[in-house]
Amino acid sequence: MQISRRAAGLASCLGLLSATLPRAYGDQELAKKLRTIGRVTGLAKADLPTPALLLDLDIFEKNLAKMAKHAASNGKQLRPHAKTHKCVEVVRRQEALGAIGVCVATVNEAEVMATGGIDGILLASPIATPSKSARMAGLAVGGRNVIVAVDHAQQVSMYEQAAAKAGSKLGVLIDLDVGDHRTGIEPDELALKLAELVTKSKQLELRGVQAYSGGSSHVIGFAQRRNHSLQAMSRAAAMRERFRKSGLPSEILSATSTGTYNIDSEIEQITELQVGSYVAMDVDYRRIGGLHSDVFNDFGHALTVLATVVSANYRKQVTIDAGFKALATDRPFGPDLKDHQGIRYLFRGDEFGVLSWETESTPFQLGDRLELLAPHCDPTVNLYDRIYACRRDQVEEIWSVMDRLSATQEGNRPS
Ligand SMILES: Cc1ncc(COP(=O)(O)O)c(C=O)c1O
Repeated sequence: MQISRRAAGLASCLGLLSATLPRAYGDQELAKKLRTIGRVTGLAKADLPTPALLLDLDIFEKNLAKMAKHAASNGKQLRPHAKTHKCVEVVRRQEALGAIGVCVATVNEAEVMATGGIDGILLASPIATPSKSARMAGLAVGGRNVIVAVDHAQQVSMYEQAAAKAGSKLGVLIDLDVGDHRTGIEPDELALKLAELVTKSKQLELRGVQAYSGGSSHVIGFAQRRNHSLQAMSRAAAMRERFRKSGLPSEILSATSTGTYNIDSEIEQITELQVGSYVAMDVDYRRIGGLHSDVFNDFGHALTVLATVVSANYRKQVTIDAGFKALATDRPFGPDLKDHQGIRYLFRGDEFGVLSWETESTPFQLGDRLELLAPHCDPTVNLYDRIYACRRDQVEEIWSVMDRLSATQEGNRPS
């Protein structure tokens, strides 16, 4: 029996797509469409090889607009973090809605953003390798606005030398440790001394401070999260105030995460929001609870992994083609199914996952396709080269993660 395209659309709405649906073009044409970088026409979600990383554009655009509106109405700038998606196309859309630039976690990400024409790049991670400081200084040649975070005097001297050699100037934020003990310097006399050191450099311009509290972002329960984050961020706010009183430049306090965006915005001293995951969302964030709800649903689940049922020989379970290599495994739970309740997912190796259920009726057949919500969005995206940006059951654009698609064509693959 052949299923019409209309029926396919309905099946897609129900979260089920059969791999055997007829398509309007041949295999060669499909291969060509799949090689596209950018806008693509006539490519259906149903024709994508699985596992595939999808971004629902309707939900994504709502997420972007909601955060942009939140920032503007709370008098904050938005410098969203690109570590979530590593994709220039996402940043372009954030900038179109008023973002002042982008945060990155690695020098490679900074280079991808700069190559994509993005300005206002903040490398939010400290580094300790001269070749990396040289690359950051190189990005600032010609006047690009590049800011780096430091938590040690050695980094100040590395950036100073690199910028002098490159003939560029770098903005600097002092990275404060407000409780994570991951990176950053204690917000006390030591931070003031480090800031004074930066002001002595001809190549470096002190712009203020940065504080990230990863320990706050996933605290379950809004009230508990609020307490945790306000305590952490009040230390950063006090430090910015000390900078000001000491006559040190402190125009920026860059901070916060998706889980604390509507908490930290209460703090007047915070000037810009470094939120990342809100564009995509994941199971991890869903569990933390929102201001008015047991689940955190302020932002929609735009990101999914499309998978196919590849083995269906048992009454109460099937196997899909999405395992360790398709979904990040750093959390103690697996993915949720986007459109089905009461189905359990279990990792079953590199290429496979098993779906099981208790009911007598069988929800899936061989060849059925379904979408999974990633346990953790950032490391899941990092497993893919391309994001299929979809509107309902059609692929509208294909975006390159870390510019790997064009890089691959040149035989070069940044990680
Ligand atoms: C320094 C820094 N800032 C901001 C973020 C963004 O957090 P989220 O993705 O939870 O919004 C992260 C995420 O790990 C981070 O490491």
